[in-house]
Formats: sequence, structure tokens, C-alpha cells
Amino acid sequence: MNPYEYVETHRDAFLDELFEFLRIPSISTLSEHAADVRRAAEWLKAHLEGIGMTHVELVETARHPIVYAEWLGAPGAPTVLIYGHYDVQPVDDPEGQWQSDPFEPVLRDGNIYARGATDDKGQTLTQIKAIQALLASGQMPINVKFVIEGEEESGSDNLYPFVDQNAERLAADVIVISDTGMKSIDRPSVVYGLRGIAYMEIEVRGPRQDLHSGMYGGVVHNPAQALVEILAKMHDEQGRVTVPGFYDRVDEVSAEERAELAKTPLPEEQLRSETGVPAAWGEPGFAIHERLAFRPTLEINGLVSGWTGEGAKTVLPAKALAKVSCRLVPRQDPHEIFGLVRDFVRAQTPPTVTSEVRLLHHGMWAVVDLKSREMQAALQAYEFGFGKRPTFVREGGSVPIVGALQRALQAPVVLMGFGQQDDNLHGPNEKFALACFEGGLRTTLRFYELIGQRG
Ligand code: BES
Ligand code: MN
Ligand code: MN
Repeated sequence: MNPYEYVETHRDAFLDELFEFLRIPSISTLSEHAADVRRAAEWLKAHLEGIGMTHVELVETARHPIVYAEWLGAPGAPTVLIYGHYDVQPVDDPEGQWQSDPFEPVLRDGNIYARGATDDKGQTLTQIKAIQALLASGQMPINVKFVIEGEEESGSDNLYPFVDQNAERLAADVIVISDTGMKSIDRPSVVYGLRGIAYMEIEVRGPRQDLHSGMYGGVVHNPAQALVEILAKMHDEQGRVTVPGFYDRVDEVSAEERAELAKTPLPEEQLRSETGVPAAWGEPGFAIHERLAFRPTLEINGLVSGWTGEGAKTVLPAKALAKVSCRLVPRQDPHEIFGLVRDFVRAQTPPTVTSEVRLLHHGMWAVVDLKSREMQAALQAYEFGFGKRPTFVREGGSVPIVGALQRALQAPVVLMGFGQQDDNLHGPNEKFALACFEGGLRTTLRFYELIGQRG
């Protein structure tokens, strides 16, 4: 049986296994789920052993384990390092928008609905199942190493030292990552750039403890107010970031890149229908798709202070907290940006309160070479798997470890994403289309065959 027949005849089994994996609520950012995160790692370990990987190991870290696996039985053939993540985002569904239990996957209208369906359990399993099919059919054209981490959604803190300390062991001819998306299944696209990130927390403190707002309001600077005053200064009226130095290292967009990107525009109307907002917003002088791909941003991710429970409570809160993240583009440095934001907040903090800015996590931006042999093979593979030649896009999201892998291993990266723009990752009703799973399997099989032939 060839590997294509193998995936066709094993479709139902693959789906059962994906459902099993999706049932584990491996939310890496919430400590009460630490045992579930470990369970997902152990599930993967057993699974990778089951498909015939010869060396499988749980690498312990200060937090969640890294799953490492190898099969090096094709001497002389190229080696592929496959990266993925088995952790998922929290559910956070105050308005009850999930139509089914996020950890009880269901197949509805050709889509698999569950937290992690596309990000990244479904996509990681696509890679694993392709390798299973190649091994089972005795037609393995490559050597393979898997690194599957459990902390991507919380910034990959413990993966950085692992990559740095194990560069030799991880050595590969190409790095493959299925953790991005396509425009849609009818308009396949390959991601060649991701933004970096600097994720921060800004805390403003005033009185020692919460005060009666009638007894002290008007004479004590309210920390919630002081915080929003600072935050409000971080953009100008048109949406440009005002933090001094923020844009200093940002490159101009080349005419060539602009033209490539213009093949996959995001018209305002589409943005409105995708998100439900009444109008687009953002930096003047750039099309919407350019703002997402080539421009850095500063976002307020969350804001907490004072009474937010039921009813009214007249309180002057002792502190206020904002979660703020910057998406970064080529040549910006996350640590430098953190320093700029910290200095800005310091300079804008009035003497009536105190403030502190903390860096929670960071990741480098990444741009991959469009002209590498591997990228050319990927284009062919997508055409085979999805019936159309894909376009190139740069994504607004981040996968923090990509830049570090590129640098440590000095190998080309191929971002073989199989998700779609409307998969609702991180939101309610996250999904992964069955057709993307199947097309992704065919694409991956073809890609490894092509890579192997070139060995
Ligand atoms: N898979 C996503 C990143 C992504 C999504 C890339 C869509 C391209 C298109 C990843 O799991 C993710 O969510 N990353 C976080 C990074 C962070 C928590 C450090 C992100 O981008 O917010
Ligand atoms: Mn992901
Ligand atoms: Mn994610």
C-alpha cells in the first residue's frame, strides 16, 4: 500500500485519534491545567512510539515537557525537523458562544470543532500522520525529528534554552512547521513571514489599599484613571504608535513585496464581515493587509482594575493593570522595544502614582527565503494537495521559536500551514476543516517525497 492509499484507508482511525488528543484540555497558561498539559505530552509520546519512531523522549523543563522523537533510518537522505505545539489557549467564553463543548470534539458540516482543532493539535497531527503513512508503507524518503512543545501559547520560555543547548542533536536540512493558515482552502497560500512579539504588563499603583471613592475621590489620583491616561498617549489620533523610537528599525516595504502581497488583499468589507466591526482602523498610508504583515503594532490585550462584578461598588482602586503586547517586524528587537515602552511609561507616569512595566514573554519575527529549494518543493506540494498554486503571504501572528530555530540550526524553514482564515483560533468555535486535514496530509506526503528525491 502506498502512503496515499494508507491515509485514505485510515481516515476514520486518524480522526478518532485526533479527537482523543483534542479531549485533553492542555491549556499551558493556566496552572490548574498543568496535569492536563502533561497528559497531552504523554499521549503524544505513546503515539509517536506507536507509529514507529525509534527514539521518543519527554524532555523535562521548568514547566511543561518538550516531546522529542527521532527516526533516522534513511542514511544519506535529508533530515527534516518538524516543530509543533500540543498546548492550547484557554476557553474564556463569558458569553457562552461555543456551540459545543470545546474539549468534546464534534464533526459538524465537514469541520472538526474543538479548542486546538487547528491551533495546533490538528495541524501537528497532520504531520505525525503523514510520517506514520510513510513509515507504514515502507517508503520513508527522509529522516525525521519531532520537537513538540507545550508552551507555545505562553511564549516558549523553556524551548529557547533547549534549542540553544541541543543545536547539534536537532540538526536538520529543513525545518517544517504546520502552525499557520491559508487564506482559504480554495485560495491556498504559503506564509513566508511572521511578526515577532513583546508581551508586557503595566501596573499602576496609588493608595496602599482600596479606598472609599466618596471619601478620597478628587484628592487621590485614581490608578485606573492614571493607567488609561498613560495608555491613551501610546497612539496618536490616526493610530500610529507614539512611543519614541518605536519605528526606528522598521524597513520600508519593497515594491516587489507589496505587489506579491497585493495578490491576497483584505478589503475593508471583508474585514467588516469577518469581525463584525463597523469600520476598519489603523495606520494611514498602508492597506489593511500591509498593516497586518509589514507594520508593528501596540495592543491592549486586557485591562483590569477596581470593581467589575455584579452591581455597583463605589471604590477607588489601589491598583490598575494592563496587558500590552507589541507585534514586531523585521529588524525590531523585542528587548529593545520593551525598553522603549518601559521608558515611555516611566516618563508619562505622574508623581501622584507609581508604575512598573514587566516583560512577560517575547519572540523574534521571522522571514523565510522564498527561493529556497524547499520552498519551491512546498509550492509544488500544495498544488498537488489542494489543486492550486499557492500565493505567498506574510502573517500578523507569531510563533516565537521560529526565528530562534532558523538561527540555531541554520536551516531553511517551511511554514506548511493548513488552517483557514476563519478557523477562529483562540476564539469560540475553533475549527479545522476535514478537507484541510486531508489536503494537508496529501501535501505533506508529496513534500517529503520531493525533499527525499533531492537528497
Ligand atoms: N499558531 C499561532 C500563530 C499564528 C496564527 C500564525 C495564525 C499565523 C496565523 C500561534 O499558536 C499563536 O497563537 N501564537 C501567539 C504567540 C504568543 C502567545 C507568543 C500569537 O501569535 O499570539
Ligand atoms: Mn499555534
Ligand atoms: Mn495560538
